[in-house]
Amino acid sequence: MSMIKKGYARYDLMKELNYEGIESDYNEILEYFSDLPADDYAPGLNRYRRYSRALVLPGTEEIHWLPTIQKGDNEFSAYFQGKFNPEHPGAYREFHSIEENIRNNKLLNKIIKANYDETFWSTEDKIMPIHVGVHFVKLFVQNDDDKAVSSPDCLHQDGEPFTFAHLIERDNVNGGTNAIGVPGAAGKVPEEVDDEDLLEVFEIDQPLESYGVYDSAVSHYVSPVTKGGEDRPGVRSVILIDYQQTVVADVDG
Ligand SMILES: [Fe+2]
Repeated sequence: MSMIKKGYARYDLMKELNYEGIESDYNEILEYFSDLPADDYAPGLNRYRRYSRALVLPGTEEIHWLPTIQKGDNEFSAYFQGKFNPEHPGAYREFHSIEENIRNNKLLNKIIKANYDETFWSTEDKIMPIHVGVHFVKLFVQNDDDKAVSSPDCLHQDGEPFTFAHLIERDNVNGGTNAIGVPGAAGKVPEEVDDEDLLEVFEIDQPLESYGVYDSAVSHYVSPVTKGGEDRPGVRSVILIDYQQTVVADVDG
């Protein structure tokens, strides 16, 4: 039974997915985050990322990764926001792909499947593949005055019907606090929102502590990250996974 129907849900996937070998699969992902490339689209913003796309086939629930674009020694995955985000109409981007050995990581595939099992769709939506966007995002702050900001820096809705966030690592950071609000709170930061319109404020800090949103039912937010008090860099790493149906053109319209 989906927990996300009420608008959002929190999960402990380390516990829920527990299987022989989960620790070493998690450690492979954690290690991979230590070397993520800088986000070319957010220069100087202390953000690092990789991105790949997959399809889930309703019925068999197989996961198929889409082919990548090879440029020199690097693989890229294209990203197109289409006409759904009014701030970035038609934005086309190419991100460094999540590489094949990690795309094949058993834990990553189990996470994608577990999230998919939480989503719900109309009969028509399930005729064609469900599209899955997998973002590896690391905020990394080395200096006391460094700040890493998630975009957009206010409560918002993503446009994709479902999005999930999974903590990989949180160490020596302040901020990175999540908030869930009513849809009408979009455009504001939590401090500006009336208490009754703010559903929950929380942090995820354990490996694979997670939350998901049913996008049309809520707005969501994560606050900027700064370095904590310890004498080492601060890091907050998450896997973000979004799910959307194949959009069919309305030929009569
Ligand atoms: Fe978002």
